[in-house]
Amino acid sequence: MNLFIPRTFMALPLRSSRGASFCGFALKCEGGVSMVQGASRGIGLQFVTQLLGKKDKGHVIATCRNPNGATSLLDLKKKFDERLSVLQLDVTNENTIEASANSIRERYGYLNLLINASGVLSKPEVLQPETTLSKVQKSSLLFAYEINAVGPILVTKHMWPLLKLGGGSGTERDVAVVANLSARVGSIGDNQLGGWYSYRSSKTALNQLTKTVAVEFARRKDPIICILLHPGTVDTDLSRPFQRNVPEGKLFTKEFSVEKLLSIIDRVKSNDNGKFFAWDGQEIPW
Ligand SMILES: NC(=O)c1ccc[n+]([C@@H]2O[C@H](COP(=O)([O-])OP(=O)(O)OC[C@H]3O[C@@H](n4cnc5c(N)ncnc54)[C@H](OP(=O)(O)O)[C@@H]3O)[C@@H](O)[C@H]2O)c1
Repeated sequence: MNLFIPRTFMALPLRSSRGASFCGFALKCEGGVSMVQGASRGIGLQFVTQLLGKKDKGHVIATCRNPNGATSLLDLKKKFDERLSVLQLDVTNENTIEASANSIRERYGYLNLLINASGVLSKPEVLQPETTLSKVQKSSLLFAYEINAVGPILVTKHMWPLLKLGGGSGTERDVAVVANLSARVGSIGDNQLGGWYSYRSSKTALNQLTKTVAVEFARRKDPIICILLHPGTVDTDLSRPFQRNVPEGKLFTKEFSVEKLLSIIDRVKSNDNGKFFAWDGQEIPW
């Protein structure tokens, strides 16, 4: 899958001579450069759709495990050929993460926004949300942990230098943003119902890892903040097998949820670093 070189960019002061390198000049794209990881379907695909559709500027890099099979993403690529790049990335394969970082470095030189949207709740024969301790298996705990916690943090590690160079330049924010898609069930303080051991604990781990990165970025004075987002219960493949008990009016469309989440990202300030927000902007206890 080829990346494109955007034509609409503008000169902006760079913090480092290692900045964007189109045509050999230090240039930054108007509207910024955003990456959505886990963009083949569901909430990730909706982020890409809204980042492209709601604004007429800015470039989006969408990553997914199998670009050739991501038909909706490829349809978007046809429509927004100049502003959308698609790269292959599987969070369980660090080489693909590193290769994506290298491609982005070569073509853009920096990032202003990273959204980690990939995640798994169930997979036939591998992971079923556990209703009781007796159903907990080492393999399903590790499977959930690898995709939901380890993956996003490795992506953040490899994109870090690019985010540091990007900061808030070309956008309306002061800082670059890492937004990791978590889930309210990852909150220990909010755990009233129990169950879902693998998914729940993998999101708790993601929360702790993201908070720890946020502390490090702040200590280093890097122009990056990290937040965790709970999208609500959203009508996607992930929630579909479990929608029976969702109260009326509590099952959101992807369009509604992502609109809310993007407004949180757009308004985020430095003192939001390390916070865990629900779709409505309310903070969720750890
Ligand atoms: N939907 C909800 O109600 C809800 C609620 C709370 C939190 N969340 C969180 O929101 C995020 C998005 O969920 P969703 O509802 O959009 O789920 P979804 O529709 O099932 O989509 C999951 C995405 O994750 C990708 N993915 C899975 N394994 C991957 C891997 N190894 N490497 C890269 N990508 C991988 C999938 O790619 P493939 O197409 O290749 O499988 C797909 O793009 C998740 O983190 C989820 O935990 C969702």
